[in-house]
Amino acid sequence: MKHFLGIEAIDDMHLWVREARDLKKDPAAYSHLGKNKTLGLLFFNNSLRTRMSTQKAAFNLGLNALVMNVGQDGWSLEFEDNVIMNGESAEHIKEAAGVLGQYCDLIGVRAFAGLKDKEKDEKDRVLNALATYSGIPVINMESTLGHPLQALADAITIDENKIVERPKVVLSWAPHPRALPHAVPHSFVRMIQQITADLVITHPEGYELDPGVTQNTTIEYDQEKALKDADFVYVKNWSSYSQYGKVLSQDTSWMMTREKLGTANFMHCLPVRRNVVVSGEVLEGNKSLVMQQANNRTYAAQLVLKKLLGS
Ligand code: CP
Repeated sequence: MKHFLGIEAIDDMHLWVREARDLKKDPAAYSHLGKNKTLGLLFFNNSLRTRMSTQKAAFNLGLNALVMNVGQDGWSLEFEDNVIMNGESAEHIKEAAGVLGQYCDLIGVRAFAGLKDKEKDEKDRVLNALATYSGIPVINMESTLGHPLQALADAITIDENKIVERPKVVLSWAPHPRALPHAVPHSFVRMIQQITADLVITHPEGYELDPGVTQNTTIEYDQEKALKDADFVYVKNWSSYSQYGKVLSQDTSWMMTREKLGTANFMHCLPVRRNVVVSGEVLEGNKSLVMQQANNRTYAAQLVLKKLLGS
């Protein structure tokens, strides 16, 4: 594996989950693998879990981590070829990426979708430019097209908690006051397609995800019907994909409650708005897996770093 740019880099989800669970049992088992090596972590957007868990994963492997809030502290970057740079951009991505390759042995990058221009967003230009010009392995810490470290952590969490061989997993849209990207639900759907599970997606009409991702997954517009007999309920807001980046509904009846959840396990990638997306009692209840998901982010990142260091 040269880079970890998306969930498609995971060639065998069952095997990766097993390997991550082994790392979790003995996180220091490969603590010399990263000796004298440096991981750069570039954040164009905010983060708590990704920032901390990836640094912790680096620490467990003996890697040094250099963290930069590029969105706040870096020079504004130019991505177009053959431009006269007499505008706002101070540095071209070709130089910036090349320079990062001088200091680091691996780079993680977070650069969210802008949600204004689908075609531009889906080029994932920050992630892909770094992969092209840095000369070192690049890890996606959430881009327009996906959040594969989150999806891998979610696969580990489902594996740890399933009590039937083929659980029913429901991905349920929830209301949110702001327009959120599609990276988490898209990677989640792709991940579930790679494990042994039945997936149902439920959302108001107009919130269909990319049909290229959902393919033949069942979509049920009636949330109550969708939730029937669920083993895992993954709640997430996303903005409209067809009316790109628009908030079409704030329907509070879609919020996840204890009554709706029933006996299912509750999952959310966090951060989450209490009593908007999900009730506080569900979040704090005994079926909530959110802390386990957050914990598993470390072992997802550690497995990816280990594989990249090994190759
Ligand atoms: N779930 C997740 O990626 O959290 P952060 O945005 O805090 O990193």
